[in-house]
Amino acid sequence: MQAWQDYQNEHKERFLNELKDLLRIPSVSANSNHNGDTARCAEAVKDALLAAGCDSAEICETAGHPIVFAQKIIDPSLPTVLTYGHYDVQPPDPLELWTSGPFEPVVVDGKIYARGACDDKGQMFMHVKALEIMTKTNTQACNLKFIIEGEEEVGSTNLGKFLEDYKDRLQADIVLVSDTSMISMEHPSIETGLRGLAYMEVEVTGPNRDLHSGVYGGAVGNPITTLSKMIASLHDENNHITVEGFYDDVDDLTVAERTALNSAPFDIEEYKTELGVKADWGEKGYTALERTGVRPTLELNGIWGGYIGEGAKTVLPSKAFAKISMRLVPHQNSHQIAELFTKHFHKIAPDYVTVKVTEHHGGEPVVTPTNSIAYKAAEKAIATTFGKDPIPTRGGGSIPIIALFEKTLGLKTVLMGFGLDNDNIHSPNEKFDVANFYKGIETIPYFHQYFAEMSK
Ligand code: BES
Ligand code: MN
Ligand code: MN
Repeated sequence: MQAWQDYQNEHKERFLNELKDLLRIPSVSANSNHNGDTARCAEAVKDALLAAGCDSAEICETAGHPIVFAQKIIDPSLPTVLTYGHYDVQPPDPLELWTSGPFEPVVVDGKIYARGACDDKGQMFMHVKALEIMTKTNTQACNLKFIIEGEEEVGSTNLGKFLEDYKDRLQADIVLVSDTSMISMEHPSIETGLRGLAYMEVEVTGPNRDLHSGVYGGAVGNPITTLSKMIASLHDENNHITVEGFYDDVDDLTVAERTALNSAPFDIEEYKTELGVKADWGEKGYTALERTGVRPTLELNGIWGGYIGEGAKTVLPSKAFAKISMRLVPHQNSHQIAELFTKHFHKIAPDYVTVKVTEHHGGEPVVTPTNSIAYKAAEKAIATTFGKDPIPTRGGGSIPIIALFEKTLGLKTVLMGFGLDNDNIHSPNEKFDVANFYKGIETIPYFHQYFAEMSK
């Protein structure tokens, strides 16, 4: 609609400046030193939602970081869209790899660089600005509710309870989320699934104290060597995961589904070049798109133990540790997989060590329907603003609360994301194309309009 474009054109600079202000707040949820910043960020989001036209916006305290809940109800007979996003960000480390400060947003070559630029402040803020446009042009087509949380990056542990507690006030027809990626501006796409996550920490203990590696070395099992071997055994020669029972619930895709998935534009040579690797890697018998989209994985996130300080210290350490995560696909269950992993890890431990396995936060996989009104509305909205029908894809990442929207509220989700896979989310130099930011703001009101029309 021309009025939307005109309004955005007139206020473009301010929209970007307001996003920069939000990006300056280091709302790192994982680090309690930043609790003041997450609280400040929640306030800023609440103020932005009120300024954009919400009738009400409140800060809901939780056992962790606060949730912002806001709404603008215009007509109870219209459908209601519940927009979900998160204002918390990943820690910016390692700082030395950033070209500019992670919380000092700069625009270079049409991209805005800062922690949270894409994941998810930039994408969440598109919805706030889209609301402003609809308010100012008097064109809001659906009732709107917003949940903007501050714990997505640490597993959304308190949001589940919020959904239970606020069940009545959260009634809606669809959940709309912009926190995923598309293939490119030339090839817009919609993710139709997310992987689940089981996250484990393991501790391997050998002798009851650190030992002199000369006095004892050779006669006492080294926990770092032992842990390394145990970890190495978690994949077989075909890069299948060896945890017993791991694949039991995994659905095999039909030939048609695999063909559709692999027809998305993707160039493995470009992929390798961009990542600086000479060869790709993965489970035998599957393509890269399948390996990241529909197959489960097991990744080492960190490993430590022994002496890592300056110079050399001859030590046979008492302990070694690792953080291990598994991405899950339908119909795997995160707790069940955590249990299988725990059992397996104890089983493969030689008797000269003891192991302790703990489970961190996780989340369940989701598949979103492509035959729903909401998906069709998103498809049509993107086709309108990008000039091309979006391709359905499967995302490799996880958003733990999505499964609970369905379980607790009975709501399906549309993942209308505008990021790109190479936006460096969770990495140094996170960025978001300013063009994608504006395109997203332009597309969202169309979604509301089409969703209202198609729901009639
Ligand atoms: N926005 C991401 C998830 C994502 C990114 C999905 C790109 C699809 C494409 C989200 O903020 C995220 O990083 N989630 C975490 C899970 C969480 C439990 C820490 C993840 O996927 O590691
Ligand atoms: Mn995110
Ligand atoms: Mn993230």
